[in-house]
Amino acid sequence: MSSNKVLIVDDDPELLKSFQRHFHGVFDQRHFHGVFDLDVAPSGMDGIESVNRQGPYTVVISDYRMPGMDGVEFLRRVRDLSPDSIRIILTGYPDIDTAVKAVNEGRVFRFLTKPVRTEIIAHAITDGIKFYELEKAERELHSLKRWRKSMEAMILAFMRLVEARDPYTAGHQQKVAKLSKAIAEELGLEKVRVEGINMAAAIHDIGKLYVPAEILNRPGKLSKIECDMIKLHSRVAFDILSPIDFEYPVARIIHQHHERMNGSGYPLGLKGDHILLEARIIAVADVVEAMSSHRPYRPALGLEEALGEISKNKGVLYDPDVADICQRLFEAEAFAFEE
Ligand SMILES: [Fe+2]
Ligand SMILES: [Fe+2]
Repeated sequence: MSSNKVLIVDDDPELLKSFQRHFHGVFDQRHFHGVFDLDVAPSGMDGIESVNRQGPYTVVISDYRMPGMDGVEFLRRVRDLSPDSIRIILTGYPDIDTAVKAVNEGRVFRFLTKPVRTEIIAHAITDGIKFYELEKAERELHSLKRWRKSMEAMILAFMRLVEARDPYTAGHQQKVAKLSKAIAEELGLEKVRVEGINMAAAIHDIGKLYVPAEILNRPGKLSKIECDMIKLHSRVAFDILSPIDFEYPVARIIHQHHERMNGSGYPLGLKGDHILLEARIIAVADVVEAMSSHRPYRPALGLEEALGEISKNKGVLYDPDVADICQRLFEAEAFAFEE
């Protein structure tokens, strides 16, 4: 059932009665665009009260000439109160001035002249509802686009935050994002999901903001306590990100990026497909990038060694399909960290 509501305002009680009779129960999907509930009001003031109490209406129709508030003034106020409602004006005195005022001040959708046949009103309502739904869909799409844009901006801000403090991690995250995205695309994942993986990977080590810089950038082997502190970064990231309503499970993906297929990872010790596929992809990209590039505490081991690690432990630590795809991307020279 449609939830469309229509309001007709006219000072002629007989006309309102005939609309009510006519539109009661005769509207169904076969003839018209959805069912609607009809309210009527005998004056502009009563109409305003209906809008306030029972609105918002999908379509509001008003007579032009009424004692007290005229139809143009009424529709202008409806526009202020509920700007998305479709407004239609009815008039027994079709003159150009009224039309101009109705369009300029009331932004009316349609202008109908009295006496008006019920079918004409019915069609105007149907068209109004269609137009309303079209505009609504457009508004929703627009706000979804805006919301996505602000999510991207937020991710970028997080990346900058990491970059300001720790350029190694920042560069690492960007490269891991690039490889994760390439793997996800190769796996044939849906576009939104690929985007989610890209975004999560771009900030996957954000939790390292909480690790003292001396530990992160110190050359040489780390103590057990220092290692444990670094390991906290997945959990910290989860705590920071989980209140944010991303389109994809960014916080959970990042939480799991150090989990391993055999359950030997951290922080939860998840196994196999209990680990999100997104996290399994980032895990592989993370290891390959980390091993093949230079770190403050060790020189680069090289891409070959990194790919060797992935193939040696595929199915044990790493998702076998993800590992294979990663291998293939490099072998076919379909991917490189640097252009
Ligand atoms: Fe990490
Ligand atoms: Fe990482």
